[in-house]
Amino acid sequence: MNAFKKSLLIAISVALGLSVVPSAIAEYKPIAQPVEPANPNLKIESRNDLFKSQFPKQYESWANTAQSTDLDSVNYEDPRVVVLWAGYAFAKDYNKPRGHFYAVTDVRNILRTGSPMTPDAGPMPMACWACKSPDVPRLIAERGEAGYFGATWASGGAEVVNPIGCADCHDTTSKDFAEGKPALRIARPYVLRALEKIDHKFETSDKTDQRAALCANCHVEYYFAGDLKQVTFPWDNGVTVDAMEKYYDDIGFVDWTHAVSKAPMLKAQHPDYETWMLGVHGKNGVTCIDCHMPKVQAADGRVYTDHQIGNPFNAFEHTCANCHDQSKEKLKEIVKSRKAEIKDVMLRLEDQLVAAHFEAKAAWEAGATKEEMKDALQSIRHAQWRWDYSAAGHGGHIHAPDVLLKVLGTGLDRAADARTQLVRVLAKHGITEPIVLPNISTPEDAWKATGVDIEKDRKAKAEFLKTVVPQWDKEAREKGLLPAEK
Ligand code: HEC
Ligand code: HEC
Ligand code: HEC
Ligand code: HEC
Repeated sequence: MNAFKKSLLIAISVALGLSVVPSAIAEYKPIAQPVEPANPNLKIESRNDLFKSQFPKQYESWANTAQSTDLDSVNYEDPRVVVLWAGYAFAKDYNKPRGHFYAVTDVRNILRTGSPMTPDAGPMPMACWACKSPDVPRLIAERGEAGYFGATWASGGAEVVNPIGCADCHDTTSKDFAEGKPALRIARPYVLRALEKIDHKFETSDKTDQRAALCANCHVEYYFAGDLKQVTFPWDNGVTVDAMEKYYDDIGFVDWTHAVSKAPMLKAQHPDYETWMLGVHGKNGVTCIDCHMPKVQAADGRVYTDHQIGNPFNAFEHTCANCHDQSKEKLKEIVKSRKAEIKDVMLRLEDQLVAAHFEAKAAWEAGATKEEMKDALQSIRHAQWRWDYSAAGHGGHIHAPDVLLKVLGTGLDRAADARTQLVRVLAKHGITEPIVLPNISTPEDAWKATGVDIEKDRKAKAEFLKTVVPQWDKEAREKGLLPAEK
């Protein structure tokens, strides 16, 4: 259908009061992304240890992110996700976040990055390092975006070795920084471009916006675009769940085809910056830094920025208490009850989605055609995108509880659409009894129900960690990217 006919049809439908349901996902048409050339003038010192003696307070508080050690497996806590992500690597292994200090270790350890025994082996691209290390902007400056992206994850193993650190947020080679000033900087070109799209151009932003933008380096929704698998933020239409969904639908982007339902799925990353912006603190100019990196006083009376990014309640007197009169217990209780309320709705949506995936499977098995399934699969895509936008974001229950509840509400609406559409398709093929769902009460049961051989992956990972990773570290030391072993 040409654009004119389409808009005419939309105009008529709107005039008649009909809703315009988008048809199945269009063919993937990547939007051509700008590609930053190498920039030999941009010097990025990615080693964190080099700043220890000059900035001991900042360095030590940064290093204390290592105290947040707990690795909580979402797959074990809630095996429904194994079904929701069936056919995608998140179904195998997904943990809640912990301290920045572990970013490189954790991306090596997670089953999702596979066990590449050689530098050209898959499955993941360089994009998977993007939010783990200041070595990433260093490499982009050295190689340009085309030289950085467009290679395998494994090929960067001996280069991306320092966890999230000083050069991710500061111009560490500048005169200002040497004098102890913040010299805040965003060094990832695709982040600078994305901020400009939402009228938050970094260079011309005020201090408040600049501070929050640092976290937008990584705590955002993104996807890997085109053949280069370039990290791209889907912000062309804005940062709401609807705006990003429209972006993905318009270019026909699909992260993976669901292994059970065959729906064309989207995987949300962690839109923390986006939800914060839409929430009450974001709207009032209270930034991530106000809560996660407060100014504190050292024993010698000097004020410095606490770099131990973690749970703001641990530094209550310097965070919430700066603006609120309520006690710590009171505010903690509010946050806790909001978390519980959101979780409750989230689990209801998960149950609807699990059922929809298996009902779609039953419909295919009963002989449904692609044409018959189109609308139901699109509804599943949209419902799960909404669930994931809420679930994959971290701390959304404090950052924007009202936004999350609305997103989950619209997700339940789309899931209801999906299941009504599926009931009709099933009935057409003679199935009128409820579809019996498999047992997914443990992740092992859920892996079995979705055909995952988890032990095979775990064995391969153990071998990779024993043989390949020590080699990466050795090479990195030889290149001076890590300090020599003591
Ligand atoms: C995630 C971002 C981030 C990382 C990583 C980070 N900083 Fe900072 N840093 C900040 C912010 C935000 C401020 C406060 C800026 C302001 O006040 O405008 C700051 C301030 C500073 C300052 C200025 C003085 C002060 O304490 O306010 C120094 C010096 C500094 N950081 C050093 C470091 C060093 C050294 C490292 C690495 C060990 C590091 N930073 C890692 C975000 C970061
Ligand atoms: C270079 C990418 C990057 C930047 C910049 C960054 N983060 Fe993170 N952040 C991560 C990753 C990756 C993790 C998960 C690390 C893990 O689990 O191994 C994480 C984890 C966290 C956690 C969980 C910590 C815990 O102990 O559970 C918080 C809170 C957090 N980040 C807040 C922030 C804030 C606030 C900023 C901005 C000041 C920021 N981050 C900047 C990538 C980044
Ligand atoms: C009003 C204060 C406040 C602001 C502003 C804020 N946060 Fe948080 N954030 C919190 C609190 C409190 C928690 C922990 C919630 C809890 O205890 O359940 C949290 C949790 C998180 C977590 C999850 C940590 C984990 O281990 O699960 C991440 C990641 C995070 N915040 C990042 C950010 C980023 C990025 C921004 C800015 C874009 C931001 N926060 C702005 C208060 C804030
Ligand atoms: C820099 C100031 C500042 C800091 C720090 C701050 N807040 Fe707020 N908070 C605000 C403002 C401003 C509002 C909006 C007040 C309004 O609209 O009446 C708000 C609103 C709230 C609300 C009510 C919002 C709603 O959705 O009903 C809660 C709850 C809250 N803050 C909790 C916290 C917690 C917990 C922390 C610490 C982790 C914190 N705040 C840190 C300034 C701050």
